[in-house]
Amino acid sequence: MFLPELGKKQLLHWGLDTSKVLELLPESARIEDGELSLGGLRASDLADRHGTPLLVYCERTIRAQVRAYREAAPGALVVYGTKAFANVALLRLLADEGVGADVSTHGELAFARAAGIPGERIVFHGNNKSDEEMRAAADAGSLVVLDSPGEAETAAAAGVRRVLVRLTPGVEAVTHRSIQTAHEESKFGLAPDAAEVEIERARELGLDVEGVHVHVGSQLGRSDESVVALERVLGFLERLHWKPRVLDLGGGLAVRHNRDEEVPSVAEFVRPLAERVPDDVQLILEPGRSLVGRAGVTLYRIGSVKESGGVTYAAIDGGMSDNPRPQLYGARYEALLANRAEELPSGVYRIAGKHCESGDVLIEAAQLPEPRPGDLLAVPATGAYTLALGSTYNGVPRPAVVLVAEGRARLIRARETVDDLLRFER
Ligand code: LLP
Repeated sequence: MFLPELGKKQLLHWGLDTSKVLELLPESARIEDGELSLGGLRASDLADRHGTPLLVYCERTIRAQVRAYREAAPGALVVYGTKAFANVALLRLLADEGVGADVSTHGELAFARAAGIPGERIVFHGNNKSDEEMRAAADAGSLVVLDSPGEAETAAAAGVRRVLVRLTPGVEAVTHRSIQTAHEESKFGLAPDAAEVEIERARELGLDVEGVHVHVGSQLGRSDESVVALERVLGFLERLHWKPRVLDLGGGLAVRHNRDEEVPSVAEFVRPLAERVPDDVQLILEPGRSLVGRAGVTLYRIGSVKESGGVTYAAIDGGMSDNPRPQLYGARYEALLANRAEELPSGVYRIAGKHCESGDVLIEAAQLPEPRPGDLLAVPATGAYTLALGSTYNGVPRPAVVLVAEGRARLIRARETVDDLLRFER
């Protein structure tokens, strides 16, 4: 059915302008013979071979994103925000491009170690690190970010040598409340006075305080608020008459999930920051979403299609268990029918998941050709914080993940099975 305010002309315009859809898709995405292909492989072949739901990552997009960071900040150490999607193959691919890992738990550290990332390229975070995590961080030789008063003691006791202190600069970023991190009430980091005390304490304990860390938030659509945060950090350092060796400015750059969202490029976001960091200070950047978000496309099979109170539902074989971002952050995704990618939209459809609650809606109003059972729905920009936040709600095993490039697909995470779910039962 049509949304009343959405004229046929606009639908035609959107439908015909495939270049606009391609903007949300990975670099290797093509629409040929009416079908979406990724990494040189037809979406329908990928789905037939690996099943659905299937998360498909484009290698070329990930490499291009890393290179964009390199160009924007040539001397910076880039560490991947592993929380965006902890996966050994992706971490290895990133390591191949010289990228390290930002980890915040023992588990994420294990992924980074399994990918062979050396300790000097691992930054260990966490607002409540356990003693075990502190010891693991020390054993790995990683750089540990002190986040709360007294943590210097735990770090020193665990044998940590190199630390940063996380500063909370009091900047309220324009993003979802749950993913702001630098505002005054943040659970992360230390306000300037407390940070000063912690730096002193760490030095007294013989720790090498290499510098300061700040992370403004996530899904940031502008750079000015990060610039303000950096200026506050620089002011703080000036007051201490301290020239640190390292400045870690965190991650945060947004990804477009739909065509209405505007986001800065890597260069637009990073350059104003990099140019304010003195040349002899090692800059660290911790992008998560902007490295892998656009690289990921989720393929779902459409099952039931039904009309209910004037809304036409198309139900997919996944939902909030593989991507809970609509429920958690009100995230708005778009979609296309991968197997009928050149057909014009015929109306607006609500994409429901298969879970047992009405809120399990992936997309409220997707403009599509009339969906039919068996069609393949492709949802762009689902490479970050989707499966990472996923669950096995309703006993739904997690989907498989493949990495595609130049006509080849590699399984990088096996599809979970119901037996996997039963493994923990006693
Ligand atoms: N560094 C630190 C200290 C962080 O806390 C985060 C993300 C990052 C780097 C990477 O940020 P990114 O470049 O990915 O924005 N689940 C939420 C996002 C949570 C972000 C948590 N911290 C979502 O789905 O939007």
